[in-house]
Amino acid sequence: MSTSSDHVKPDPADPCVFVIFGASGDLTRRLLVPALYNLAAEGLLSDGFRILGVARAEMSADAFRAHLEKGLAEFATQKVDAATAKWLLSCVSYLSGDVDDPETYAKLKTELERLEASGLSQGNRLFYCATPPQAFAPIALHLGAAGLSEEREGGPWRRLIVEKPFGTSLESARALNRELLSVLDEEQIFRIDHYLGKETVQNILILRFANGLFEPIWNRNHIDHVQITVAETVDVGTRGKFYDATGALRDMVPNHLFQLLSLVAMEPPVRFEANSVRSQKAEALDSIRIPNAEEALRNSVRAQYRQGKIGDREVTAYRKSPDVSPGSTTETFVALRLDIDNWRWAGVPFYLRTGKALAKRRTEIAVKFKQAPVSMFRNMPMEALGDNLLVIAIQPEEGIKLHFNAKVPGPEIEIVPVGMTFEYKDYFEAAPATGYETLIYDCMTGDAILYQRADGVEAGWRAVEPFIKAWREAGAKGIETYDAGSEGPAKADELLAGDGRAWRSIADGG
Ligand code: BG6
Repeated sequence: MSTSSDHVKPDPADPCVFVIFGASGDLTRRLLVPALYNLAAEGLLSDGFRILGVARAEMSADAFRAHLEKGLAEFATQKVDAATAKWLLSCVSYLSGDVDDPETYAKLKTELERLEASGLSQGNRLFYCATPPQAFAPIALHLGAAGLSEEREGGPWRRLIVEKPFGTSLESARALNRELLSVLDEEQIFRIDHYLGKETVQNILILRFANGLFEPIWNRNHIDHVQITVAETVDVGTRGKFYDATGALRDMVPNHLFQLLSLVAMEPPVRFEANSVRSQKAEALDSIRIPNAEEALRNSVRAQYRQGKIGDREVTAYRKSPDVSPGSTTETFVALRLDIDNWRWAGVPFYLRTGKALAKRRTEIAVKFKQAPVSMFRNMPMEALGDNLLVIAIQPEEGIKLHFNAKVPGPEIEIVPVGMTFEYKDYFEAAPATGYETLIYDCMTGDAILYQRADGVEAGWRAVEPFIKAWREAGAKGIETYDAGSEGPAKADELLAGDGRAWRSIADGG
């Protein structure tokens, strides 16, 4: 078993003032501060690190510190060491102001100059938009107008982290990119997709490109199809207002599922470096075939959960959830068949599905290889042989499993499916984390490999737009239902059955 202490320890990140807009919100308490704590505990924050919270609420720095301290006690992913927490909280200051008010940025300038006077943070600034998405562009534009985000050759760096959702359509994503790029260079913009913070997601690149074994067969000659599943047991809960206006497709596909798809489908980058990797990912997304309206309807299934039971938990029907319209046609489940029109993948469908209130939490990528061409074993027709599958388990199980066929010991030829499994927990002992640690550290060191570039985001929206449009035109017609706690709607099974294929089970992974 190898632990983090057995490995080369990275250097602390560059010092900076970490400015959080929306600092009084949930994201800061639940994720950012616990993640910063974990970085501090690993010695990865420099002595010159400072946090400046910005939010509308009138509050003293002491009150803000107390608020974060409480959050840390509740949401820390590991045991909190008092001295580390004390140090982290001693880095915190607070500024009250509305992100839409130019006056806030004048005050921010004064506060930054005060914090930077000692020279410890070296003038580096990381602006984090932990705000509702409508505030992303105004914040960037105000920072630009106030001269706070300007970078000079050889001078300190200024970077902006933008949370999701990045737009709600191709047009709005393009508009947001245009606004951000009017005041910042692409190298200064860090668009978060928290799926890239997951170790199992990062490992897809390593699996493919640090091994000679898989890449030669990673193509249309050997792969029959790919299934990507992001199944959740959580229901809409209290997020009705956001979710009913968004739906499963927009919420999950152009971002999280497409991160998985692009890592599986991309060509080898020339270097393990942000622009090489992101160019290949964007190209893969750009190669997704754009269906016409009829194809979009034929290759997609959308559905809403009815009342049901997940384990012992009774789940109310989606339409009866708080802040959801009783006649809502918003999908809580989506399944798609996508085709990638390039030399590697022509003729290899990628099936994607994601949904809420399903039987089990399971995120995985299953790569199904073509079967042996003939069965030379008596009494074992091809259909009776198990699949050759490589399953990359992203969460909550973390590992990789190869499924193949083997002979049952004995005089008769009896063949059964067996599997070889790698599980992270057998090899690595990792301290539980929020998933934001690497992302924040990378931004502070200027490595954008785990962040989305403008072209990648736009290519993602371009690929889902035909489905959104076709559904809008079809209206309520065509929205299926499924029981909460089930595997999703029957129509999703038909989507694959029509191609002679079947989904793996969400409940038991078989
Ligand atoms: C978020 C979505 O981006 O990702 C949520 O808005 C979803 O609806 C969540 O539940 C899933 O993230 P994870 O890490 O739990 O798979």
